[in-house]
Amino acid sequence: MKIAMVGSGYVGLVSGACFADFGHDVVCIDKDASKIERLQVGIMPIYEPGLAELVATNVRSGRMSFSTDLAASIAGAQAIFIAVGTPSRRGDGHADLSYVYAVAHEIADNLTSPAVIVTKSTVPVGTGDEVERIIRERAPNVQFAVVSNPEFLREGAAIGDFKRPDRIVLGAEGEWERGVMSEVYRPLFLNKAPLLFTGRRSSELIKYAANAFLATKITFINEMADLCEKVGANVQDVARGIGLDNRIGSKFLHAGPGYGGSCFPKDTLALLKTAEDYASPVRIVEAVVRVNDSRKRAMGRKVIDAIAEAGVGDGRGQRIALLGLTFKPNTDDMRDAPSIAIVQALLDSGAQIVAYDPEGMEAAAPLMPEVTMAKNAYEAVTGADAVVLVTEWDAFRGIDLERVGRLVNNRVLVDLRNVYNPDEVRAAGWHYSSVGRK
Ligand code: UDX
Repeated sequence: MKIAMVGSGYVGLVSGACFADFGHDVVCIDKDASKIERLQVGIMPIYEPGLAELVATNVRSGRMSFSTDLAASIAGAQAIFIAVGTPSRRGDGHADLSYVYAVAHEIADNLTSPAVIVTKSTVPVGTGDEVERIIRERAPNVQFAVVSNPEFLREGAAIGDFKRPDRIVLGAEGEWERGVMSEVYRPLFLNKAPLLFTGRRSSELIKYAANAFLATKITFINEMADLCEKVGANVQDVARGIGLDNRIGSKFLHAGPGYGGSCFPKDTLALLKTAEDYASPVRIVEAVVRVNDSRKRAMGRKVIDAIAEAGVGDGRGQRIALLGLTFKPNTDDMRDAPSIAIVQALLDSGAQIVAYDPEGMEAAAPLMPEVTMAKNAYEAVTGADAVVLVTEWDAFRGIDLERVGRLVNNRVLVDLRNVYNPDEVRAAGWHYSSVGRK
């Protein structure tokens, strides 16, 4: 089957490479000529474990190629995916659909053979209707259908998530497009994953509802963590104790510095905008957004409190080492990373900041010009008055705390991901604080 993937960013590349790996003939398209040129020589625009290898294998086998020429690339494709960005529109928080609609126009102007147009971009309810209108207006004589097929890929685990999904949601209403989409996802090992066919609007909403629910789950456990600290309980025990109830489930109950990334912050905001447009408020998500926003900055205050409790200062003029900057491990993505607000809060307290992140420093540097970027974790902690674990990269889980202890100025460790064992760390002479654990 021939598939055209319009947009060679994170979602387009991962999806395109996986479809090619299933045996489809895939061309990934992008307007950015330098990105396409680099992809043609095997240079990935993002860091995602396993992606470069998967792309290389499928390019070698002739099943995957790259192009800037949308018109030529969609010719004969039975499925044309739209996988371009839908960032928050500056000013009002609505999803910015200008890229999606621009692609719809371009597809419409060049569509000559029957095709299913699939929106993989995260788009508000009703966007599929508008894409359909645009194409019908410009290509009235070509058979086509517009389908919604949201992605549920986690950065850092995207290939595994694509190949072993919990479900595949397809907002496809007619027999023909349902048949084409079943063919797209046919590969045997995927048959175990349920294909959930729904109406297009339901499918569009499923994506937002899923992300808002997960954001709510995280925010819930984060507030429980705060309460645990006050009442002397342990949030990890609480999470385990509630998560073993299948109705609740154990995932997404890790307390931390608040969620960030390219999806949850943007999608929760966009959902609120849809709710507002339809005068049907989702108040629980309104609260989640507010609580999560204030939490990130509160983590800065937590660090200052830890320094004060250890009796070594109040942050002013002190050197604080941050381990990890990205919103989560195994990505170089800095979008809405809690570290940004934490850095700001610490700078406002008069501290100096040194940071190290295995992949995120290039993206982080322009966002936090006052921060000194270190070459490795040990360099970052040298002379530090406090060490803060912000992102739970494996490299930090296995760090030699004895060596770190010899390099720092004060043994103050703030673990915002509950990675270390409190008893062990305290026994090694650290003043240790974590999230939701006494
Ligand atoms: C998310 C969704 O998981 C994915 O299905 C969707 O398509 C895109 O958004 P992603 O943003 O890559 O994926 O990361 P995810 O692993 O879900 O984590 C999001 C944020 O929540 C991170 O900041 C992470 O640190 C935080 N988080 C996650 C927690 O604080 N606690 C948890 O238990 C889980």
